[in-house]
Amino acid sequence: IGHKIIHLDVVDSTNNYIANLAKQGEISHGTVIMADEQTNGRGQRGTIWQTQPGMNLIFSLFVEYSDFPTDQQSSIHHWVALSLWQALKKTGIYSVIKWPNDLLTENGKLAGILIENTLSDKGVKSSTIGIGLNVNQVDFQGVKATSVKLETGGAVNVKEIAFTLINELNQQFGRLIGANRETLKAEYEEKLWGINQEVDFLRNEVLEKGVILGTDAIGRLEVHTGRGVEYFDLKEVKFVL
Ligand code: BTN
Repeated sequence: IGHKIIHLDVVDSTNNYIANLAKQGEISHGTVIMADEQTNGRGQRGTIWQTQPGMNLIFSLFVEYSDFPTDQQSSIHHWVALSLWQALKKTGIYSVIKWPNDLLTENGKLAGILIENTLSDKGVKSSTIGIGLNVNQVDFQGVKATSVKLETGGAVNVKEIAFTLINELNQQFGRLIGANRETLKAEYEEKLWGINQEVDFLRNEVLEKGVILGTDAIGRLEVHTGRGVEYFDLKEVKFVL
Protein backbone atom coordinates (compact mmCIF):
# COMPACT_ATOMS: atom_id res chain seq x y z
CA ILE A 1 0.00 0.00 0.00
CA GLY A 2 1.37 3.36 -1.01
CA HIS A 3 4.06 2.00 -3.35
CA LYS A 4 2.71 4.48 -5.88
CA ILE A 5 1.46 7.95 -4.93
CA ILE A 6 0.02 10.35 -7.48
CA HIS A 7 -0.33 13.97 -6.48
CA LEU A 8 -2.78 16.23 -8.30
CA ASP A 9 -3.23 19.99 -7.93
CA VAL A 10 -6.96 20.00 -8.64
CA VAL A 11 -9.41 17.17 -9.30
CA ASP A 12 -13.18 16.80 -9.14
CA SER A 13 -12.92 14.03 -6.54
CA THR A 14 -10.00 11.68 -5.82
CA ASN A 15 -12.52 8.84 -5.46
CA ASN A 16 -13.93 9.61 -8.94
CA TYR A 17 -10.42 9.81 -10.32
CA ILE A 18 -9.72 6.28 -9.09
CA ALA A 19 -13.06 5.01 -10.42
CA ASN A 20 -12.14 6.30 -13.89
CA LEU A 21 -8.68 4.74 -13.85
CA ALA A 22 -10.15 1.46 -12.59
CA LYS A 23 -12.69 1.37 -15.42
CA GLN A 24 -9.82 1.50 -17.90
CA GLY A 25 -7.82 -1.06 -15.92
CA GLU A 26 -5.14 1.55 -15.33
CA ILE A 27 -4.64 1.38 -11.61
CA SER A 28 -2.92 -1.19 -9.44
CA HIS A 29 -3.54 -2.37 -5.89
CA GLY A 30 -2.18 0.01 -3.29
CA THR A 31 -2.10 3.17 -5.41
CA VAL A 32 -2.78 6.42 -3.54
CA ILE A 33 -4.16 9.57 -5.12
CA MET A 34 -3.80 12.86 -3.27
CA ALA A 35 -4.92 16.32 -4.26
CA ASP A 36 -4.54 19.89 -3.03
CA GLU A 37 -8.04 20.79 -4.07
CA GLN A 38 -11.31 19.06 -4.98
CA THR A 39 -14.08 20.73 -6.95
CA ASN A 40 -16.65 18.00 -6.32
CA GLY A 41 -15.55 16.29 -3.11
CA ARG A 42 -18.13 13.76 -1.98
CA GLY A 43 -19.15 12.70 1.52
CA GLN A 44 -21.32 9.94 2.91
CA ARG A 45 -25.09 9.95 2.38
CA GLY A 46 -24.59 11.94 -0.85
CA THR A 47 -23.29 15.02 0.94
CA ILE A 48 -20.58 17.36 -0.36
CA TRP A 49 -17.12 17.41 1.17
CA GLN A 50 -15.69 20.88 1.02
CA THR A 51 -12.27 21.96 2.28
CA GLN A 52 -10.05 24.99 1.83
CA PRO A 53 -7.56 24.37 -1.02
CA GLY A 54 -4.05 23.32 -0.04
CA MET A 55 -4.84 23.03 3.67
CA ASN A 56 -6.00 19.51 4.26
CA LEU A 57 -5.46 15.87 3.45
CA ILE A 58 -7.49 14.73 0.45
CA PHE A 59 -6.61 11.11 0.00
CA SER A 60 -7.91 8.06 -1.84
CA LEU A 61 -6.49 4.57 -1.87
CA PHE A 62 -7.31 1.74 -4.27
CA VAL A 63 -7.28 -1.80 -2.90
CA GLU A 64 -7.96 -5.11 -4.67
CA TYR A 65 -8.90 -8.40 -3.03
CA SER A 66 -9.18 -11.97 -4.06
CA ASP A 67 -12.58 -13.22 -2.94
CA PHE A 68 -13.19 -10.92 0.02
CA PRO A 69 -16.54 -12.00 1.53
CA THR A 70 -19.36 -9.61 0.65
CA ASP A 71 -21.02 -10.10 4.04
CA GLN A 72 -17.91 -8.85 5.83
CA GLN A 73 -17.58 -5.48 4.17
CA SER A 74 -17.88 -3.75 7.52
CA SER A 75 -14.37 -5.07 8.34
CA ILE A 76 -13.04 -2.78 5.63
CA HIS A 77 -14.52 0.16 7.54
CA HIS A 78 -12.98 -1.11 10.77
CA TRP A 79 -9.56 -1.40 9.14
CA VAL A 80 -9.67 2.13 7.73
CA ALA A 81 -11.15 3.88 10.78
CA LEU A 82 -8.68 2.17 13.12
CA SER A 83 -5.71 2.99 10.91
CA LEU A 84 -6.74 6.63 10.80
CA TRP A 85 -7.30 6.60 14.56
CA GLN A 86 -3.77 5.20 15.07
CA ALA A 87 -2.22 7.72 12.67
CA LEU A 88 -3.90 10.54 14.63
CA LYS A 89 -2.66 9.11 17.90
CA LYS A 90 0.89 9.15 16.50
CA THR A 91 0.29 12.81 15.67
CA GLY A 92 -0.67 13.41 19.30
CA ILE A 93 -4.46 13.40 18.98
CA TYR A 94 -6.84 11.10 20.82
CA SER A 95 -10.05 10.92 18.81
CA VAL A 96 -13.21 8.84 18.90
CA ILE A 97 -14.86 7.05 16.02
CA LYS A 98 -18.41 8.14 15.42
CA TRP A 99 -20.23 5.25 13.81
CA PRO A 100 -19.84 4.32 11.06
CA ASN A 101 -16.62 6.20 10.38
CA ASP A 102 -16.15 9.80 11.27
CA LEU A 103 -13.32 10.80 13.55
CA LEU A 104 -14.16 13.36 16.19
CA THR A 105 -12.70 15.12 19.15
CA GLU A 106 -14.73 17.09 21.66
CA ASN A 107 -14.16 20.12 19.41
CA GLY A 108 -15.91 18.59 16.41
CA LYS A 109 -15.36 16.51 13.32
CA LEU A 110 -11.76 15.97 12.35
CA ALA A 111 -12.03 13.50 9.48
CA GLY A 112 -14.49 11.61 7.31
CA ILE A 113 -14.21 8.39 5.33
CA LEU A 114 -16.00 7.39 2.14
CA ILE A 115 -15.49 3.77 1.10
CA GLU A 116 -16.81 2.62 -2.28
CA ASN A 117 -16.62 -1.09 -3.08
CA THR A 118 -17.05 -2.92 -6.36
CA LEU A 119 -18.55 -6.38 -6.14
CA SER A 120 -18.45 -9.44 -8.32
CA ASP A 121 -20.28 -12.73 -7.81
CA LYS A 122 -17.18 -14.00 -6.00
CA GLY A 123 -17.14 -11.20 -3.44
CA VAL A 124 -15.71 -7.73 -3.03
CA LYS A 125 -13.34 -7.06 -5.92
CA SER A 126 -11.95 -3.70 -4.91
CA SER A 127 -12.38 -0.71 -2.63
CA THR A 128 -11.78 2.95 -3.19
CA ILE A 129 -11.07 4.39 0.22
CA GLY A 130 -11.47 8.14 0.41
CA ILE A 131 -10.27 10.04 3.45
CA GLY A 132 -10.69 13.71 4.13
CA LEU A 133 -8.73 14.92 7.15
CA ASN A 134 -8.70 18.52 8.30
CA VAL A 135 -5.06 19.39 8.81
CA ASN A 136 -4.20 23.10 8.67
CA GLN A 137 -7.65 24.65 8.24
CA VAL A 138 -8.71 26.70 11.25
CA ASP A 139 -11.86 28.44 10.04
CA PHE A 140 -14.91 26.24 9.46
CA GLN A 141 -17.50 28.98 9.08
CA GLY A 142 -19.69 28.05 11.99
CA VAL A 143 -19.62 24.29 11.36
CA LYS A 144 -18.51 22.32 14.41
CA ALA A 145 -15.29 20.92 12.99
CA THR A 146 -11.67 20.77 14.06
CA SER A 147 -8.28 20.13 12.52
CA VAL A 148 -4.90 18.69 13.41
CA LYS A 149 -3.60 22.23 13.76
CA LEU A 150 -6.39 23.25 16.13
CA GLU A 151 -5.91 20.08 18.18
CA THR A 152 -2.12 20.14 18.46
CA GLY A 153 -1.53 23.88 18.31
CA GLY A 154 1.05 23.69 15.55
CA ALA A 155 1.16 23.68 11.76
CA VAL A 156 1.48 20.22 10.33
CA ASN A 157 2.87 18.94 7.08
CA VAL A 158 0.07 17.28 5.12
CA LYS A 159 2.50 14.89 3.41
CA GLU A 160 3.94 13.78 6.72
CA ILE A 161 0.48 12.85 7.98
CA ALA A 162 -0.19 11.04 4.72
CA PHE A 163 2.90 8.89 5.23
CA THR A 164 1.93 8.11 8.81
CA LEU A 165 -1.50 7.09 7.60
CA ILE A 166 -0.18 4.93 4.74
CA ASN A 167 2.12 3.23 7.19
CA GLU A 168 -0.77 2.36 9.51
CA LEU A 169 -3.02 1.19 6.68
CA ASN A 170 -0.19 -1.04 5.54
CA GLN A 171 0.47 -2.49 8.98
CA GLN A 172 -3.18 -3.26 9.66
CA PHE A 173 -4.01 -4.61 6.20
CA GLY A 174 -2.78 -8.09 7.07
CA ARG A 175 -5.44 -8.31 9.76
CA LEU A 176 -8.15 -7.46 7.25
CA ILE A 177 -7.28 -10.13 4.71
CA GLY A 178 -6.05 -12.64 7.28
CA ALA A 179 -8.19 -14.23 9.93
CA ASN A 180 -8.06 -11.30 12.30
CA ARG A 181 -11.23 -9.44 11.45
CA GLU A 182 -12.77 -10.10 14.86
CA THR A 183 -9.98 -8.28 16.68
CA LEU A 184 -10.22 -5.38 14.22
CA LYS A 185 -13.92 -5.13 15.07
CA ALA A 186 -13.26 -5.29 18.82
CA GLU A 187 -10.67 -2.53 18.65
CA TYR A 188 -12.94 -0.42 16.49
CA GLU A 189 -15.79 -0.78 18.98
CA GLU A 190 -13.54 0.21 21.88
CA LYS A 191 -13.03 3.54 20.20
CA LEU A 192 -16.66 4.13 19.27
CA TRP A 193 -18.25 7.35 20.40
CA GLY A 194 -20.98 6.66 22.96
CA ILE A 195 -20.15 2.98 23.47
CA ASN A 196 -21.96 1.66 26.57
CA GLN A 197 -23.35 5.13 27.18
CA GLU A 198 -26.79 6.62 26.91
CA VAL A 199 -26.95 9.01 23.98
CA ASP A 200 -29.60 11.05 22.19
CA PHE A 201 -30.63 10.26 18.64
CA LEU A 202 -33.26 11.28 16.15
CA ARG A 203 -35.51 8.74 14.48
CA ASN A 204 -37.99 10.25 12.04
CA GLU A 205 -37.12 13.65 13.53
CA VAL A 206 -38.19 12.46 17.00
CA LEU A 207 -35.67 12.63 19.84
CA GLU A 208 -35.04 9.32 21.63
CA LYS A 209 -32.47 7.93 24.02
CA GLY A 210 -30.48 4.73 23.74
CA VAL A 211 -27.35 2.95 24.85
CA ILE A 212 -24.88 2.06 22.08
CA LEU A 213 -23.89 -1.61 22.49
CA GLY A 214 -21.69 -2.20 19.45
CA THR A 215 -22.02 -3.18 15.80
CA ASP A 216 -23.24 -6.38 14.14
CA ALA A 217 -21.63 -8.53 11.44
CA ILE A 218 -22.94 -6.33 8.63
CA GLY A 219 -21.89 -3.12 10.32
CA ARG A 220 -25.24 -1.94 11.66
CA LEU A 221 -25.20 -0.14 15.00
CA GLU A 222 -26.64 -2.10 17.92
CA VAL A 223 -28.56 0.16 20.27
CA HIS A 224 -30.64 -0.54 23.37
CA THR A 225 -33.60 1.79 22.94
CA GLY A 226 -36.94 2.13 24.68
CA ARG A 227 -38.19 -0.64 22.37
CA GLY A 228 -35.45 -3.15 23.19
CA VAL A 229 -32.28 -3.97 21.26
CA GLU A 230 -32.43 -2.58 17.73
CA TYR A 231 -30.07 -2.49 14.76
CA PHE A 232 -29.75 0.67 12.72
CA ASP A 233 -28.19 1.42 9.39
CA LEU A 234 -26.80 4.75 8.31
CA LYS A 235 -29.99 6.33 7.06
CA GLU A 236 -32.25 5.38 9.94
CA VAL A 237 -30.89 7.46 12.78
CA LYS A 238 -28.96 10.62 13.44
CA PHE A 239 -27.03 10.94 16.68
CA VAL A 240 -26.98 14.16 18.61
CA LEU A 241 -23.51 15.03 19.83
C1 BTN B 1 -17.84 12.06 5.07
O1 BTN B 1 -17.50 12.39 6.21
O2 BTN B 1 -19.00 12.22 4.69
C2 BTN B 1 -16.81 11.44 4.16
C3 BTN B 1 -15.90 12.46 3.55
C4 BTN B 1 -14.88 11.85 2.61
C5 BTN B 1 -14.07 12.90 1.88
C6 BTN B 1 -12.94 12.31 1.08
S1 BTN B 1 -11.79 13.51 0.51
C7 BTN B 1 -11.01 12.34 -0.51
C8 BTN B 1 -12.12 11.48 -1.10
N1 BTN B 1 -12.67 12.07 -2.32
C9 BTN B 1 -13.96 12.40 -2.19
O3 BTN B 1 -14.67 12.91 -3.09
N2 BTN B 1 -14.39 12.11 -0.95
C10 BTN B 1 -13.32 11.50 -0.14
